[in-house]
Amino acid sequence: MNILFAVSEATPFAKTGGLADVAGALPSALAEQGDQVYLFLPLYREIKAKHLELEKKADISIPIDDHLLTGSIVSLNSSHPNLHIHFIEQGDLFDRSTLYGPASAEFKDNGTRFIFFCRAVLEAVTTLNLDIDIYHAHDWQTGLIPVYLKTLYKNLPRYQGGSLFTIHNLGYQGLQDKEIFPLTGLSWEEFTFERLEFFDRLNLLKGGLVYADKLNTVSLAYSQEILEPEFGFGLETVLAERRNDLHGILNGVDYEEWNPAQDPFIDNHFQLGRMKGKKSCKQKLSKAFNLAYSEKQPLIGMVSRLVNQKGFDLILPLMEQVVEFEAKFIFLGTGEKNLEEQLASLAQRYPNQIAFTCGYDNGLAHLLEAGADIFMMPSHYEPCGLNQMYSLRYGTVPLVRATGGLDDSITHFDPKNGTGNGFKFNDYLVEDLKKTLIEALSTYQQPRLWHKLRANGMRCNFSWNQSAKKYRELYKSILSAP
Ligand code: ADP
Ligand code: GLC
Repeated sequence: MNILFAVSEATPFAKTGGLADVAGALPSALAEQGDQVYLFLPLYREIKAKHLELEKKADISIPIDDHLLTGSIVSLNSSHPNLHIHFIEQGDLFDRSTLYGPASAEFKDNGTRFIFFCRAVLEAVTTLNLDIDIYHAHDWQTGLIPVYLKTLYKNLPRYQGGSLFTIHNLGYQGLQDKEIFPLTGLSWEEFTFERLEFFDRLNLLKGGLVYADKLNTVSLAYSQEILEPEFGFGLETVLAERRNDLHGILNGVDYEEWNPAQDPFIDNHFQLGRMKGKKSCKQKLSKAFNLAYSEKQPLIGMVSRLVNQKGFDLILPLMEQVVEFEAKFIFLGTGEKNLEEQLASLAQRYPNQIAFTCGYDNGLAHLLEAGADIFMMPSHYEPCGLNQMYSLRYGTVPLVRATGGLDDSITHFDPKNGTGNGFKFNDYLVEDLKKTLIEALSTYQQPRLWHKLRANGMRCNFSWNQSAKKYRELYKSILSAP
């Protein structure tokens, strides 16, 4: 199959969260299984700064409003013959210091930026003479691609395939004032309640949900949860109508990147059966966060975008009780100002037990996975979540709330028969998180049990191989549909 993969971020080029991990790994896994994959990304400033050997292929002009906006298609030789990497270059729109805007705000013209990107990708298909079977779009930034394929671009030469839209997070919908609707070039007929309109605004995510041939989310549990008002963010009825086309495929892990036996970000490598290096990583990690190393006290870590989705209304009150716990807590993250301030204040008030590094640091994220004993993810909702799966491979026991991909990947440890790979609680309540943490701390004090639990996790395999196979099945079902 020839698959076009349009996405707004992908490792190793540009990343703000898990979407980039997925878009960095899944195309390679598909290419490895024999498909031709055409990956399209905006050419952001941070990609330009990497001094890659980019080659300009062609100029493109897109009608935006009453003028033509020009940009270009720029390509990069990839290391895999089946993977073709293209960037859409447009200096005014993408040559900026961040991907979507400063923390807690969005660029005012994000609508224009991603309308341009979507159209440019479809123009590039003709310009580069590509034969595409499946258009695979992700999240609100590329929600217009399925729309265009059924409207302005339905007569693309040689196009007989279909589209898949993957929902990575329903909480971000790319809502725009309806005044910018004409920039899409679409007819106002598309701006209805059944299609792109959402409370009198333009909803770019809804475009993907309504127009794509099939939909999927990044875990089976999340594909069910979003049909309920609590997690549907106002789109639950739209999704219910598409229930039969909605699938759930759990993300995988790129074990080339997240593997304690070869991780370039850690000095002391380890693996199941050879765990000495983990202790050194814990020592280095404690030092990096300015905490005294303690073997007796577990180090509990979190790497996260600082947004409410991730469970901070449970974590912050729990941290006010930190002196009750025989443990130390470390946080790495950036995001909403008020959360950054509250974590900084906790670290200041409890300097022996809580440390916080405000920022985005991939190397430190790897060291944290390697050196921590427990990884905390008490998310309110979590479409998939990747860190709990990374943690398992690093012998860092996940403590999660039973939601979305956390529920699908983590099973609660049962000390009697030695099954399970982490700790999991159901209700979104401080008390329940606290109870589960106490259980985890007590298990940590019983080395025989702890080693069993840790080994169970390290044996889990969430390789992309399996998930890529499921995506291929889904693509095939789109192609064979009448
Ligand atoms: P989400 O996509 O909702 O942010 P995921 O768990 O799917 O959540 O993925 C988050 C990814 O971003 C992980 O690879 C994680 O290590 C990374 N990440 C998040 N915050 C930071 C940070 N402050 N520094 C480095 N990496 C981070
Ligand atoms: C989103 C979700 C996260 C998921 C990631 C990759 O950002 O919040 O749960 O793992 O996308 O699919």
